[in-house]
Amino acid sequence: VRTAAVIPAAGRGVRLGPGAPKALRTLGGTPMLIHAVRALAASRSVSLVVVVAPPDGAAEVKSLLDAHALPDRTDFVVVPGGETRQESVKLGLDALPPGHDIVLVHDAARPLVPVDTVDAVIEAVREGAPAVVPGLPLADTVKEVEPAAVPGGPEPVVATPERARLRAVQTPQGFDRATLLRAHETVTDEVTDDAGMVERLGLTVVVVPGHEEAFKVTRPLDLVLAEAVLARRRL
Ligand code: C5P
Repeated sequence: VRTAAVIPAAGRGVRLGPGAPKALRTLGGTPMLIHAVRALAASRSVSLVVVVAPPDGAAEVKSLLDAHALPDRTDFVVVPGGETRQESVKLGLDALPPGHDIVLVHDAARPLVPVDTVDAVIEAVREGAPAVVPGLPLADTVKEVEPAAVPGGPEPVVATPERARLRAVQTPQGFDRATLLRAHETVTDEVTDDAGMVERLGLTVVVVPGHEEAFKVTRPLDLVLAEAVLARRRL
């Protein structure tokens, strides 16, 4: 079964502070997006990678891919993205040629995901799950809150879900292709991950073990951590 990966990389990365679009910022001298593309292409099952570029940055991303060494056995396609992550993923799916029955969606902002995590997700889809997400137990207790009466004011807690049953989910998320396409065609509410759309279809999503190094680079401190992980790998 052939696998394609869609990498949404069209976000501006506002929470990271001013600068280039997040995916184009460098880690160890190499753009985060290139790390993410290599991480997915490292899986022998992945034969196509679709990169969803910032709307006005497709040409730049294309030349970036051309300028970096990538595996020969993988095809690479670049398409312009949209306003939201969901829209960007949809534009990436629209660019998929037929013949890939498993589709992964992976954030460019998770540049250091190990190939074993990618392969574990693919394997679980192969074994029959329509949607698979890598996830980790939480260190922090999580509270559900109500909006504060005044912005920035105290937020009343409404619930404390049992921590042992919660998972922080990562990417790549893996899907049976037809299921993911149906989810993107029928679910219109805003969700924060692709598996959430499959849940809305009433299908079961399963969690497989994620990896600490698959963390999302969101805030400035995450860049410090990512640089440290990369430096340790290069020892
Ligand atoms: O903003 P967040 O960290 O959730 O973004 C996750 C991923 O989605 C990032 O890789 C980002 O580049 C991508 N994204 C996108 N199009 C958008 C917004 C985010 O491809 N409009």
